[in-house]
Amino acid sequence: MIGRLNHVAIAVPDLDAAVKQYRDTLGADVSDKIDLPDHGVTVVFVNLENTKIELLFPLGENSSIAKFLVKNPTGGMHHVCYEVADIYAARDKLVADGARILGDGEPRTGAHGKPVLFMHPKDFSGTLVEIEQV
Ligand code: CO
Repeated sequence: MIGRLNHVAIAVPDLDAAVKQYRDTLGADVSDKIDLPDHGVTVVFVNLENTKIELLFPLGENSSIAKFLVKNPTGGMHHVCYEVADIYAARDKLVADGARILGDGEPRTGAHGKPVLFMHPKDFSGTLVEIEQV
C-alpha cells in the first residue's frame, strides 16, 4: 500500500542553526523558510536525492511543534511520511486493521498542498506516521 518515503520531519529548537548545519556542514540543498500558519509551523525543506527532510519550527500560539519541543528541548524526529496512491482506500484499510487516525478522520491539506492523514503513534511503534496522497 505505501510507496516512497516522502519525508522525515524533524522538530528543531533553533531553525537558523539547523539550516546552517544542513546547508554548510552537510552540504545539502536547503529551501528558504516557509511559514505555514494553518499548520502552526515554519518549515525548511532539505532536498535529498531520494527523499526530503523537513525542519519544523513552531509558528503561532497553538503550535503542536511548540509542545513537542517542551518535551524534547533539543529537538527530535517528529514524524515520517509515506506516499499512498489513494488516501481514502489507505485510511479505510488502516482503520479496518485497528489503526487510529488523528483528528476527525478526514484528510486535510498538508504542507505540500496534498491530502494527508496522521496515525496515532501508539499504533506505529511510537512513531507519528503521516500518509500523503501523491
Ligand atoms: Co509531514
